[in-house]
Amino acid sequence: MKIAVLILALLCVVSAKEKISYEGYKVYELLPSNEEQLALIRSFNYHQYIDFWSEPKILGKPTTVNFWSEPKILGKPTTVMVPPNLQASFTSTLASAHINYSVLIDNVERVNNAEQARQAINARPASGRISFTEYQRYDAIQNYLSELATNYPDIVSVEEIGTSYEGRAINMIKIGAGASDNPIILVEGGIHAREWISPAFVTYIIQELVENEDNRNMIENTNWIIVPVLNPDGYEHTHTSARLWRKTRSPGLLCTGVDGNRNFDFHWMETGASALQCSNTFAGSAPFSESETSALRDVVLQYADQIKLFLAIHSYGNYLLYAWGHTSDLPEDVNILDALAVEVESAIASVSGTRYTIGSSTNVLYAATGGSADWVKGVAGVNLTYTVELPGGGIWGFDLPASRIIPVCEETFEGVKVYQNYVENNFRKNELLL
Ligand code: ARG
Ligand code: ZN
Repeated sequence: MKIAVLILALLCVVSAKEKISYEGYKVYELLPSNEEQLALIRSFNYHQYIDFWSEPKILGKPTTVNFWSEPKILGKPTTVMVPPNLQASFTSTLASAHINYSVLIDNVERVNNAEQARQAINARPASGRISFTEYQRYDAIQNYLSELATNYPDIVSVEEIGTSYEGRAINMIKIGAGASDNPIILVEGGIHAREWISPAFVTYIIQELVENEDNRNMIENTNWIIVPVLNPDGYEHTHTSARLWRKTRSPGLLCTGVDGNRNFDFHWMETGASALQCSNTFAGSAPFSESETSALRDVVLQYADQIKLFLAIHSYGNYLLYAWGHTSDLPEDVNILDALAVEVESAIASVSGTRYTIGSSTNVLYAATGGSADWVKGVAGVNLTYTVELPGGGIWGFDLPASRIIPVCEETFEGVKVYQNYVENNFRKNELLL
């Protein structure tokens, strides 16, 4: 018995260290043409191949189908990653249901390796000014924040809001050149580990606000609280071991990690979240079981009256999502939320034509509860909250090539300007202007 436990423990350690390979994994794009086909595709997730891909520890390899974009709207393609051993049965199921599909990525490992090689060549030391021609590691982002705190003490301060499961500091940067009681815009990045463009874009926002004089107006009447990497353990794990890791890294009996965006205490575990530890959308053993989500909760509650706008930055799919995730009913202030999103969208589109889908998260993406944006609105009482799904997709999925970071940041920052402008024009020091 003791020996068995020892061997098991050893296997866990070994598999945890080993880099997960996606050799032979294919990504399919499915185009369901009716509700029945859509329902069948959805059922892969819940029955046929329960979403166990997220590191069954002992095997050390993902084993089942993983949805990259979930089926919601007819006519929007769904992308699914399927391991080699399931490809034959998967495609024959599709064929017998007459579901149109194509192979988007023939071998995920090859795409990952190509991007990683590129990333390695351009890797820069973790100090000095930050660059956006490659994705930065956690240390580099941390160093950049400290540097800003040193170089711009009048407008910047950096504070630790908590520590991750593995003990990494979770930092926020506060930026503001005006009164300390100016309205606040809060930006959350990196809750989902594999969505690399999120910390990159959020770091870009920081750079533009602090280091670009042209944007001085954006910090004079608005204060900012920005958390670039809310899930640092997961983020590092995607750099060292498993590119497509999503969750935190807190250990469970069977599997590691909790989906941070299912862990907030608003309609927790009601829908679109899993009670299964190995699922990619595992909601956790309890609301705020994770130190990472608790850290954000505490900041939000501390500044709840002052925060006027909250943005949760994710990828991918080009969505501007507002409440709610638990119901298809629209929030009372949907007209305000929608009109502002429309303005933001057209500002982004004006740069080079990138279009976003706007709507309530249940209606245009999928129902899911425990997300930060709904908690910030529903519990903390911040009316304007959005989940932003940045671009990705194409054959790249989460692996948006590093050469795309700057164009995506530039265009999306135009949208941030619109958000800031709205806050500046509609709120002053805790009062709604009438
Ligand atoms: N991709 C995000 C997630 O799965 C989107 C969350 C938006 N909310 C929602 N209820 N769909 O966490
Ligand atoms: Zn996400």
